[in-house]
Amino acid sequence: MLLAIETSCDETGVALFSEEGRLIKDYLYSQIALHSPFGGIVPEIASRKQLEVLYPMVQKALQENSLSPFDLKAIAVTLGPGLLGSLLVGVTFSKGLALALKIPLIGVDHLQAHIFSVFIEKEVSFPFISLLVSGGHTVLFLVRDFEDIELIGHTRDDAAGEAFDKVAKLLGLPYPGGPIINKLAEKGDPDRYSLPRPMLEENNFDFSFSGLKVAVYRLLQKEKGYKIEDVCAAFQKALCEVLVEKTIRASRVFNIKRIILAGGVSANSYLRKLFWERLQEEEVYFPHPKYCTDNAAMVGFLGWIKWKKNKFIKIEEEPYARAFFRRSKS
Ligand code: KG4
Ligand code: ZN
Repeated sequence: MLLAIETSCDETGVALFSEEGRLIKDYLYSQIALHSPFGGIVPEIASRKQLEVLYPMVQKALQENSLSPFDLKAIAVTLGPGLLGSLLVGVTFSKGLALALKIPLIGVDHLQAHIFSVFIEKEVSFPFISLLVSGGHTVLFLVRDFEDIELIGHTRDDAAGEAFDKVAKLLGLPYPGGPIINKLAEKGDPDRYSLPRPMLEENNFDFSFSGLKVAVYRLLQKEKGYKIEDVCAAFQKALCEVLVEKTIRASRVFNIKRIILAGGVSANSYLRKLFWERLQEEEVYFPHPKYCTDNAAMVGFLGWIKWKKNKFIKIEEEPYARAFFRRSKS
């Protein structure tokens, strides 16, 4: 059994994978209610809560699946990028457990885990274009293999999820803004207001969303009696159209007709609809909504791939671990 741990941001995720790479069960502790009053994530609150909930979550996962810690054969953990305090909680816990059990520790990159989150449920062939749209990143990758990932475009300022969150704040909506804007937009007219489609004219695969956010701010200043649903729909349409257009451009330029989305914003129902409408010939894959946002199942899947390829840290060989063993013997 492989244990996976994700604590890169505010969520705390724990997952169990079989030695054949099948997801057994995943658990998530969401802190949204804790951070919502602050209009965003407070890193200190996030890591302190993770410190409190991680160990009981692992205990619960083992108990509910009738496992003892000695059934664990490897541990996969998110190494970064993310909030330093939060990462430290997951990594330190995992290192300690791996050391005690003398099992391999597999470090997983958070962005790579997102890229392959579709694979938790279905196997997809290579190569593919990956559009990763989360709260911290908006990136286009050309993925030829698990270890052959080329960055072809990225945001120059705000990430797509960040733009959703900031526009929600302008509208007086709580954090996180993406799901609420998505819901309100369903009842709005996307063509009531005209907003810019940033960077569409430029012949590259980069994005920029801070200008779109400023355009929404100006619109709210000008239109005192605005209908919130219409603003949400217009903003969502502008942002999603840019994401879809740039992804299609990458697919055509590299002649790759397989596209996989990932990250919190890929849960957006309008974005999904737009992709399916625009791409009839191509294969387009979205992760299950629960695997779009941060979770340990995606860490477990990539961790399992690395484990099978022998890409892991033998923790007993790390200098600090040797020092620990020397001290404990004397
Ligand atoms: O991938 P994720 O959980 O965390 C990061 O690694 O950043 O993504 C969180 C982001 C937030 O900005 C949130 O507003 C956005 O994903 N999000 C959405 C939706 N659900 C989550 N954005 C648009 N539509 C949604 N349905
Ligand atoms: Zn993430």
